[in-house]
Amino acid sequence: MKRVALIGATGSIGKQALEIIGAHPELELVAAASGSQDIDGLAPLTQVGGDLTELLEQAQPDVVLNAVVGFAGLPATLWALERGVTLALANKESLVAAGDLALSARERGGGLLLPVDSEHSAAFQCLEGRALETVESLVLTASGGPFRGRTREELEGVTRADALAHPTWQMGPKITVDSATLANKGLELIEAHFLFGVPYEQIEVVIHPSSIVHSLVRFRDGAALAHLGYPDMSVPISFALTYPERAATDVPQLDLAAGLTLEFAAPDVETFPLLALARGAGEAGGTHPAVFNAANEVAVAAFLEGRLPFLGIAEVVEATLAAADGAPARDLAELVEADSDARRLASEGVLVS
Ligand SMILES: NC(=O)c1ccc[n+]([C@@H]2O[C@H](COP(=O)([O-])OP(=O)(O)OC[C@H]3O[C@@H](n4cnc5c(N)ncnc54)[C@H](OP(=O)(O)O)[C@@H]3O)[C@@H](O)[C@H]2O)c1
Repeated sequence: MKRVALIGATGSIGKQALEIIGAHPELELVAAASGSQDIDGLAPLTQVGGDLTELLEQAQPDVVLNAVVGFAGLPATLWALERGVTLALANKESLVAAGDLALSARERGGGLLLPVDSEHSAAFQCLEGRALETVESLVLTASGGPFRGRTREELEGVTRADALAHPTWQMGPKITVDSATLANKGLELIEAHFLFGVPYEQIEVVIHPSSIVHSLVRFRDGAALAHLGYPDMSVPISFALTYPERAATDVPQLDLAAGLTLEFAAPDVETFPLLALARGAGEAGGTHPAVFNAANEVAVAAFLEGRLPFLGIAEVVEATLAAADGAPARDLAELVEADSDARRLASEGVLVS
């Protein structure tokens, strides 16, 4: 029996996780949390907003599935890593922002960190049991989002509804906008660096519109291992929750007889500058990734509320990165301060846009 705490239970990942937990008698939901929606009765212990580590402390789960969106997921990530409680991590923003602090907590705790992001779950499986020195590079695939192939001019008037119409994945609004700007792939690049210890120059991003190949790992002998499947988050969620058993899901097997065309292309980093900005922030290190994340959260919220045009998202993030010092955070308090400062700078940037 695995005792699961699900935080972010009302979201896109959270709801799919509830179905998986409900279908597996060996998974027991002991605690659930949301940000604001009522979840009374969903689990023996529930909490709405506030400090979610109180709930985790009370529940003492075997696994924390962190499906909160944004930097708000950080305390739960650190709680699990510090204690060696298995962390099934959908909340990429916490790992991107906390970076080295999260890795130190994992080292102290010694527990499992299982990615739920489909690309990272795929890479985790391709890398499992293989020595890092045999890895030539990691290739993260990106659908390209709803605006793939468009020019900058064609992005000037796009609306919230246009950005939320993702071609292959059904997800919450923040990550859907991140997919449209390619900021999501930028966050994933940094996430992959921290998860797998692969240097940035060995992490590639490739556009793959059908989202069938979730990641590839190239090895030094010229072989590449890929992870394929229909785009359905049930697979990585189930993989993380039932690891290492790899329980069955009801996701259909790939229908190869129906034909399968796999197309790949280089990303357009001129039109979608957030990918290159994320790479720069990752390479710069310190709190630059946290600043990238915070500015992006502020800008995406402003776009979703109609206060910032689509192209303004990258402009606000770029200006915030240029203004922030990005000095490394020695502890959580310094990280939270860097995040708050970046949010203030980004909010000022939104106002003048
Ligand atoms: N959706 C996907 O397919 C997908 C794929 C890969 C990775 N991810 C990652 O998974 C995470 C969740 O994404 P999502 O698409 O499921 O988001 P979502 O649908 O917007 O759901 C977000 C969840 O977080 C909760 N939440 C928001 N603010 C909170 C706070 N301050 N404290 C506690 N809970 C809070 C929400 O509760 P309320 O409903 O009460 O506001 C909701 O349960 C993100 O980091 C995303 O990047 C998602």
